[in-house]
Amino acid sequence: MSKSMVVTVILLAIFLLCSPSSVAILLNKLQLPPPVIGPEALAFDRNGGGPYVTSSDGRIFKYVGPSEGFKEYAYTSPNRNRTICDGFSDFSNIQAICGRPLGLGFNHQTGDLYAADGYYGLVKVGPNGGKATQLVGPAQSNSTVFANGLDVDSNTGIVYFTIASTKFQPKDFPTALLTGGIGDNSGSLLSYDPSNNQTTVFLRNLTFASGVAVSGDGSFVLVSEYFANRIRRVWLKGPKANSSDLFMLLAGRPDNIKRNSRGQFWIAVNTVTLSSGVRVTENGIVLQIVSLVEEYGLEAASEVQEYNGTLYGGSLLASYAIIFTP
Ligand SMILES: *[C@@H]1O[C@H](CO)[C@@H](O)[C@H](O)[C@H]1NC(C)=O
Ligand SMILES: *[C@@H]1O[C@H](CO)[C@@H](O)[C@H](O)[C@H]1NC(C)=O
Ligand SMILES: *[C@@H]1O[C@H](CO)[C@@H](O)[C@H](O)[C@H]1NC(C)=O
Ligand SMILES: *[C@@H]1O[C@H](CO)[C@@H](O)[C@H](O)[C@H]1NC(C)=O
Ligand SMILES: *[C@@H]1O[C@H](CO)[C@@H](O)[C@H](O)[C@H]1NC(C)=O
Ligand SMILES: *[C@@H]1O[C@H](CO)[C@@H](O)[C@H](O)[C@H]1NC(C)=O
Repeated sequence: MSKSMVVTVILLAIFLLCSPSSVAILLNKLQLPPPVIGPEALAFDRNGGGPYVTSSDGRIFKYVGPSEGFKEYAYTSPNRNRTICDGFSDFSNIQAICGRPLGLGFNHQTGDLYAADGYYGLVKVGPNGGKATQLVGPAQSNSTVFANGLDVDSNTGIVYFTIASTKFQPKDFPTALLTGGIGDNSGSLLSYDPSNNQTTVFLRNLTFASGVAVSGDGSFVLVSEYFANRIRRVWLKGPKANSSDLFMLLAGRPDNIKRNSRGQFWIAVNTVTLSSGVRVTENGIVLQIVSLVEEYGLEAASEVQEYNGTLYGGSLLASYAIIFTP
């Protein structure tokens, strides 16, 4: 039994003796409906509902509570065939038919949910869920426009998203990890403005652009370069507007970046053997490092997000999201 399970069991025992209202917080694994895996990114709606997570079979699921678990909310591929896609979890050509949503974020004003799909680019799901509308990127699954990270500027509604690479597709990621990823600089950072449908490329030649997060005041946006162990910052406002600089170097590969309510950022950082969440200030000063080796040792953590005082984690390869308090 792992340490976290022991802690959970002890907390559960305390819970059973005391307060019946806090059980959700004690469930440290939120299991996707088997055999679906890969909650790579998480989001919460404007009513605090969720987490919503992306998954290996092209669907976006919403966590509705401990008894019902995850329920289907939306899907990204216009051609999705349930017979072959529901429950799909491999890295093969089928993935291109089913879609592979990765980055996720709500516009809390409109209730729209945006997703970066590794095959279908930037897509939008209306407030009632269901089939997504494609906004930017390929209408066909064949293209190598590997959209990956996503964040919505809550003040402007502008959506920032990354193209990890134009050299390979998500299904090739396990190979890219071993071979092709290093040296590939075909990634980019883009924005989509829903008020005029305009797409802008901010930064090119990125080494596998994975995560993205806009700052609390909207003055800059961060983009992680997974295979380069670094995070770049693009200035949107002020004297340095339209220029970019190095935000921080890391001792591992940075994946998704999520801002917390205090304007700090949580970065999922992985090495071959270590998985962690790193909390930094808006100037890149490290405040906290949380080890996720027990939770996501082999699968690697793709996201750490702080929401309403609790931490949530996601992973491209694990079958569950996690809730934890370090
Ligand atoms: C935030 O957490 C508190 C308890 O810790 C809970 O009462 C409240 O409903 C939560 N808010 C949301 C939006 O989930
Ligand atoms: C979905 O896939 C199944 C199995 O390959 C096939 O029999 C069926 O015709 C497909 N449905 C559609 C609508 O393409
Ligand atoms: C993908 O490309 C192959 C070879 O170029 C082609 O045969 C196939 O029809 C394409 N599939 C889709 C969904 O566009
Ligand atoms: C943006 O695109 C949508 C869908 O294609 C369209 O309905 C809308 O009119 C467009 N808005 C603008 C401002 O061009
Ligand atoms: C930078 O990326 C562009 C495409 O976005 C490409 O045409 C160009 O060759 C790249 N430059 C370098 C130095 O790799
Ligand atoms: C940044 O680019 C935008 C759009 O090209 C331009 O309107 C703005 O003046 C630029 N700002 C600075 C400080 O160069």
